[in-house]
Amino acid sequence: MSDVFNFSAGPAVLPKSVLEEAQRDLLDISNSGISVLEHSHRGKEYMAIQEEAQANMRELLNVPEGYSVLFLQGGASQQFAVIPMNLLGAGQSADYTNSGAWAKKAIGEAKKIGSVNVIAETGDVRPCTVPTPDELNETEGSAYLHITANETISGAQWKTFPTTQAPLVADMSSDILSRPLDVSNFGVIYAGAQKNMGPSGVTMVIVRDELAANAPADIPLIWRYQTHIDNDSMFNTPPCFSIYLLMLVTRWLKAQGGVEGMEKINIAKAATLYGAIDATDFYSGAAHVDHRSLMNVTFNLPTPELEAQFAKEADAAGLKGLKGHRSVGGLRASIYNAFPTAGVDSLVNFMQEFEKNNG
Ligand SMILES: Cc1ncc(COP(=O)(O)O)c(C=O)c1O
Repeated sequence: MSDVFNFSAGPAVLPKSVLEEAQRDLLDISNSGISVLEHSHRGKEYMAIQEEAQANMRELLNVPEGYSVLFLQGGASQQFAVIPMNLLGAGQSADYTNSGAWAKKAIGEAKKIGSVNVIAETGDVRPCTVPTPDELNETEGSAYLHITANETISGAQWKTFPTTQAPLVADMSSDILSRPLDVSNFGVIYAGAQKNMGPSGVTMVIVRDELAANAPADIPLIWRYQTHIDNDSMFNTPPCFSIYLLMLVTRWLKAQGGVEGMEKINIAKAATLYGAIDATDFYSGAAHVDHRSLMNVTFNLPTPELEAQFAKEADAAGLKGLKGHRSVGGLRASIYNAFPTAGVDSLVNFMQEFEKNNG
């Protein structure tokens, strides 16, 4: 079979070496005679996996003392509700930025729990943007300020993070581990695994311990961050296989030079693709140049018909998953950490050919 490149927005491409290792461990891990899928989460084989996932994640993101790294379930969508449950005390309000589809969902859930102030709106701005730090006018006494670090659908990304009075809470589902971070600038960081960390099924939450400790007393145990801190993310049976794969991805990332090394590769891949978009009037980038995502490259062709034809012919050529999200149309190339440079080159060649034949 000729090369297939998977541009899916998530679940997304995983490093091939990780999949090969998982394939071996599927039948027998660590010469235990038992599949990685079958081990008890309390057994030494699995405990070692989760401990390594924790340690590698702390190392990769340079997570300081006073923060916990949790592996939970329910996706980033569950965090949309769990964050206000834990951080929004009675009589308080929270600030949110509305930068697009995912921010809007987070706002919708928070409004069900408490009082929300939307302090910046860019969801309908075209080309797509996110707010800039200096546009934020924080509400005095706000419990936290929520941002969506990378809008997976529009392809707009925060390039620098604001320094805020209230704890900064960030949905990093689609750009976690793609660049270095100063975790101490945040109160909570959360991300579903299925784009840059592993398969779906596990959600990572990095939470400042004092925020978890001060959560209202009436939240059910399963939704309290403190419960999961106290139980090392083993309050209930964790998503063992997803965490195992995430652990393998952290090893792979370390071998790429960590997030610093990964960022360099990501910048180069995105530059190649945006360069091809900018090289001609036939293609146009959907996100504002200052906010262009390194992870989700969104672009348009002159007509929706040409976009549909492009996606269809690209698919037949082995370039899969390029159709834009159903809510916005256009094309979207998701080029997460594990997406190979050869796939970007292949897409650029295809774009040039397509324009020659249809431009
Ligand atoms: C930025 C962002 N936030 C939240 C979500 C929802 O994640 P989940 O499906 O893990 O609930 C997604 C999924 O694509 C996303 O891209």
